Amino acid sequence: MSIALHQLRAGVIGTGFIGPVHIEALKRLGVQVMAICGSTRNARATADRWGIPEVYGDYDFRALLRSPSVDVIHITSPNKVHVEQSLAALAAGKHVICEKPLGMTAKDTAKVVAAAKRKNAPVFAVNYMCRFFPAVLQMRALVARGDLGQIIHVQGHFFQDWLLHATDYNWRLLASEGGKLRAVGDIGTHWIDAVSFILGARAESVFAHLETFHRTRYRPKGEVQTFAKIDPKTMVPYRCDTEDLGSVLLKFGKARHGFVDGVHANASISQVAAGWKCSLALGIYGTKGSVRWDLQQPNEILVGRREEPNQVLQRATAGFSKDVAGFTDYPGGHPEGFPDSHKMHYRAVYEHIASGRRTPVLFATAEDGHHEVKLCEAVLRSSRSRRWVKA
Ligand SMILES: NC(=O)c1ccc[n+]([C@@H]2O[C@H](COP(=O)([O-])OP(=O)(O)OC[C@H]3O[C@@H](n4cnc5c(N)ncnc54)[C@H](O)[C@@H]3O)[C@@H](O)[C@H]2O)c1
Repeated sequence: MSIALHQLRAGVIGTGFIGPVHIEALKRLGVQVMAICGSTRNARATADRWGIPEVYGDYDFRALLRSPSVDVIHITSPNKVHVEQSLAALAAGKHVICEKPLGMTAKDTAKVVAAAKRKNAPVFAVNYMCRFFPAVLQMRALVARGDLGQIIHVQGHFFQDWLLHATDYNWRLLASEGGKLRAVGDIGTHWIDAVSFILGARAESVFAHLETFHRTRYRPKGEVQTFAKIDPKTMVPYRCDTEDLGSVLLKFGKARHGFVDGVHANASISQVAAGWKCSLALGIYGTKGSVRWDLQQPNEILVGRREEPNQVLQRATAGFSKDVAGFTDYPGGHPEGFPDSHKMHYRAVYEHIASGRRTPVLFATAEDGHHEVKLCEAVLRSSRSRRWVKA
């Protein structure tokens, strides 16, 4: 049985930076956002701003889960509560889109995998939405069709600069709040997930080097929202126990289409790269050609050939194939970007639910989210032991 997307109703847990990104994308899809949960003050303010009828303050997500007006839960709270909230949402029979990372430890995220696998369990997705940039889908199609030949290697980076100064503060800087891996866990996993998606194969082993440039950082006395500006005079020093940057080598497994088998990748991840706000860049190099992309120029990919001129292919023009139809809404020359990738991701998940699971599962599942957390643990072990480690 199929229903229309607007018949599905959403509830959002978390009102910080990314919560409203989910709300905006849902509203653009015509999905009704019926409930919001957060601190009492922020939940009320978010509800007033977006016209959300049900408000659950005091972080009372269990009360939101009891609401009969909500079918799909969006978990946009900090990392350390993702597993508890995911398990409770699944137990309440709600479909879930949980923010990345799925949890703080693989031991915990394995519980979500088990709950999401149960007979008649609701649909569960992890918000690795980079998969839904048309450019990423296009690169995936090029690889799967063999247009690039046998893939030889992959290279790239994810650079940000919002934690460049010792006085920049966010809960992610504390291992107890965000997890033991910060730069690699927070943004590196977006890079790894996007590359796995493009190749059609999982990363199986890693060799990593991690560095903390600012061993002493400064924090305000209270909590602050992501990207908020703080007065340095009100700050106190603390020892930073998460990495500012990392170099990661990865070995990918075999893809069903046969063009990827044992591919080597290297990625540089940094949250202290001055001038780079959100540059997720990657290049896939094969025996017939290569393709490169940067999230900061999301509408085009650069295809390289040895015997032919290189080409810049643009979204929504002849350069992008029919493989990405349905994942782009605006004509060529009308840029789509970060908010659109969220919209396309939620559309894919909601269509899967609304169609009675008849659409392909392109989104990251609980198992994919769990694998990313296992990779993070392998990265940490590798950095300590200076060896290749299997995930
Ligand atoms: N997919 C992406 O591109 C992307 C981008 C940014 C953040 N994220 C992820 O989203 C999550 C939130 O990040 P953020 O940058 O919005 O953080 P944030 O600090 O700006 O917001 C977190 C919000 O959660 C609320 N909160 C705290 N404890 C809670 C609880 N127990 N229950 C409910 N709400 C609670 C806070 O009050 C705050 O409103 C993180 O897991 C992060 O990794 C994903």
